Amino acid sequence: MTKILMVCLGNICRSPLAEGILKSKLSNDFIVDSAGTANYHVGSAPDKRSIAVARKHGLDISNLSGRQFDSSDFDVFDMIYVMDDSNFQNIVKLARNDEDIVKVKLILNEVHPNKNYEVPDPYYGGDHGFENVYQMLDEACDNIVKKLI
Ligand code: 4NP
Repeated sequence: MTKILMVCLGNICRSPLAEGILKSKLSNDFIVDSAGTANYHVGSAPDKRSIAVARKHGLDISNLSGRQFDSSDFDVFDMIYVMDDSNFQNIVKLARNDEDIVKVKLILNEVHPNKNYEVPDPYYGGDHGFENVYQMLDEACDNIVKKLI
């Protein structure tokens, strides 16, 4: 069973959206989860703007709950997708060996290989930022699905 983890900073805006989008495109033969590098929002529901943009596209992510990434996640997950370079650096710092590090990838490299583009943090922006993030993640998840099945 392939297990995929989506990671951002707070685990309330980008990564819960990525989790909901990828889950909706895969069967239950896959496990999809998300986590944040920071602990600010542990136990919190996704940001209401992420819930709203997901709902607009037919997805319900309102039941998700924030958690912080832990180095034991390297043992559980096969692929760890991060949203931006700062997430990448923070996760790689927790890696215990090269096997851990190769699991960590910038999610937009699935759309633009080797470009190292980032999914912008929409937290301080307006609703348009969330729709933009949704579109980026939807395209990336389509490509992840093509690789997996
Ligand atoms: P996320 O967005 O990393 O996409 O969940 C953020 C959420 C909260 C904060 C920063 C980014 N914060 O500083 O509380």
